[in-house]
Amino acid sequence: MQHRRSDFPEGFEFGTATSSYQIEGHGFGGAGPTHWDTFAATPGNVVRAENGARACDHYHRYEADLDLVQAAGFDCYRFSTSWARVLPEGRGTPNPEGLDFYDRLTDAMLERGIKPCATLYHWELPAPLADLGGWTNRDIALWFADFTEVIMGRIGDRMHSVAPINEPWCVAWISHFLGLHAPGLRDIRATARAMHHVLLAHGTAIQTMRGMGMKNLGAVFNMEWPQPVDDSPEAAGAAATYDGYYNRFYLDGVFKGRYPDTVLAGMEQHLPRGWQNDFPVIDSAVDWCGINYYTRKVIAPNDGPWPSLDEVEGPLPKTFMDWEIYPEGLYRFLKRTAAEYTGDLPLIVTENGLAAPDLLQNGRVSDPGRVAFLDQHMAAIKRAIDEGVPVGGYYIWSLLDNYEWALGYEKRFGLVHVDFDSLVRTPKDSYHALARALKE
Ligand code: FCB
Repeated sequence: MQHRRSDFPEGFEFGTATSSYQIEGHGFGGAGPTHWDTFAATPGNVVRAENGARACDHYHRYEADLDLVQAAGFDCYRFSTSWARVLPEGRGTPNPEGLDFYDRLTDAMLERGIKPCATLYHWELPAPLADLGGWTNRDIALWFADFTEVIMGRIGDRMHSVAPINEPWCVAWISHFLGLHAPGLRDIRATARAMHHVLLAHGTAIQTMRGMGMKNLGAVFNMEWPQPVDDSPEAAGAAATYDGYYNRFYLDGVFKGRYPDTVLAGMEQHLPRGWQNDFPVIDSAVDWCGINYYTRKVIAPNDGPWPSLDEVEGPLPKTFMDWEIYPEGLYRFLKRTAAEYTGDLPLIVTENGLAAPDLLQNGRVSDPGRVAFLDQHMAAIKRAIDEGVPVGGYYIWSLLDNYEWALGYEKRFGLVHVDFDSLVRTPKDSYHALARALKE
């Protein structure tokens, strides 16, 4: 690894990220059913119909996993709290075992000198709330505020930072428009409602936590750089539409209290009545902005209905996800987000990493591609910092190989290899390289 901790400003935080459903083992500890369980149980949705019932068994092995976070020299650990583990019915009576788990997890981080960075929701919606329409039901903003109060009432006093929702685009678009994630809908009206309600829920959670006196609250957005397929005005228009519903809709909502015209053009008639009145909640002040960055998309116009575009294959080298490797996009997003949305607010790269086949051979996993990828993205961050962008941290996705949603356990993103039969953990070469870089 070419970079060292000393290449970054004093106080810059290195972290690694995971999420509850992807690692904990949702079959343990009294967690309720989630819409990912039902999505995975429906044939054709998930590779080999795999689910998160056991995952990495982090629920029982969290201490050893946090030892790995500590030994690598990370400052922060970005984890998420499962709504269905805390409130198996989504509302009402909490599951004491679930609250106890996050309490123990928090203390285990603190004992190791690791800063706990919580995400309240990383996609495992309690199934009973899905029955009520899930993200298409406006009441979810109130249910989510209640969940926020319950879980943060227990661990909020010890959090370094908190973000309500991981990746609103994924909660709304890939799940209700593309149908590739739970609940697997392909419906523009449901999508528009989910897009609006996910931001409303973000805002109610921020207000709830402010009311509890909590600090260092943020929002985490996933961003993909929209690359027009050619120089035509039509391609530029298609890329702007993609940029609108992928990136700008959520940033505009949270930081400007409005929605972009590129999105309203196709979706205004599907938004819930009175959406304009919700911005005072949606644009509640946050203390930092998280960016999850993996790739760009090459966008071509088509003659079909809105959004009238296709994603086409690009020419760059790709990861095991078939995602083009484009570190320049991270640099451009850091610059653009600061210039157009967040100004002096700290930006945190809350996720970045890649999937590779990562074979375990003779007790070792050689993953030079991951080391190079991380180096390229650190260079992009450094370039933005050198040009004055206030980037405060870099968190790698992910600590462990884990349940990669609809792609099951096949796509390995971890710095640490997991054998999904024996559950044995083996730090990969990239983990060791990072550990050296963070210590020096
Ligand atoms: C992000 C998700 C995370 C993981 C990575 C690869 O969109 O937040 O759970 O799936 O992608």
